[in-house]
Amino acid sequence: MDKKTSVGTAIGKIILMGEHAVVYGEPAIAIPFPGAKVKTTIYKGNGPVLLDCLYYKGVLSNAPETLLGLTKVIKNITESLGEELKDFSINIESTILPERGMGSSAAVAIATIRALYDFFNRPLTYDELLKWTDVSEKIVHGNPSGIDAAIVSGEKTLYYIKGKPVIPFEFKLDTYLIVGDTGKKGQTRAAVEGVRQFIESKAEEGRVLIKELGVLTMSAKSSIESNDAIKLGESMTRAHNILDKLGVSDDNLNFLVSEALNSGALGAKLTGGGRGGCMIALASSREEANYISSKLLSSGAENTWISNLGVDLVDK
Ligand code: MEV
Repeated sequence: MDKKTSVGTAIGKIILMGEHAVVYGEPAIAIPFPGAKVKTTIYKGNGPVLLDCLYYKGVLSNAPETLLGLTKVIKNITESLGEELKDFSINIESTILPERGMGSSAAVAIATIRALYDFFNRPLTYDELLKWTDVSEKIVHGNPSGIDAAIVSGEKTLYYIKGKPVIPFEFKLDTYLIVGDTGKKGQTRAAVEGVRQFIESKAEEGRVLIKELGVLTMSAKSSIESNDAIKLGESMTRAHNILDKLGVSDDNLNFLVSEALNSGALGAKLTGGGRGGCMIALASSREEANYISSKLLSSGAENTWISNLGVDLVDK
């Protein structure tokens, strides 16, 4: 028996270190971003399934190709649970900026999978949640490492290595993280493909750069564990320079990263897929974080958020 109304939610994520290298088996560190959320509500209705979200409002079967990851998951879950694809409508509200490297696509999939299972009154295991999210992420990103699905579904800071059991780890560092949005949509799929081509055409250089990103992530983990914010900041900036060499940064990201560093940040880098989207910077106090944030805004950032990594919460 399906319900009258069901709700599923999910939060966003920030990759602190290791994006792109994580696709090639290197570790990455991701933190939850509870300042941004997705809420999917399913209502009982009559007739064809309707979808209402940022990019489309109408009959599910006419949804644009760009929503294929989501629509496929909705259809496949409904079918696999032996239910009929009719008589309900899906409303998706999100405060996670889409295509900014904040895990929006994984969060939309996860909130919707949770709502669907609840609507059809079925228990949802963690493995099923990951399996369905992966179906969507493969369509959206081409070759996902699984880190977005892992962090968004688990909502805990992770030290993540593709294909290995997920390792949550205590992230308490007496520092502040500033997230700056370039205001430009990121292009994770194109950036992941760009890195693949880089490695294909310059195998030796590509291998060295990816390996170096992995070493920097390991070093960042040690810095967090030993409460060494200065060293963590240095690793972040070095990682940004490597990501830039790999072709996943752009002028806006590079500009905001250098503005953050010129304003006293301990380190700064792009976060997530890159080629647009967001950057992050590390500051040693709330005052410095506020100053860096205001500098980023006056340098063209569309929005900023400050997170106290000592309490692991994101506030504005
Ligand atoms: C995207 O949030 C992170 C990337 O490393 C891709 C992936 O891991 O799937 C760029």
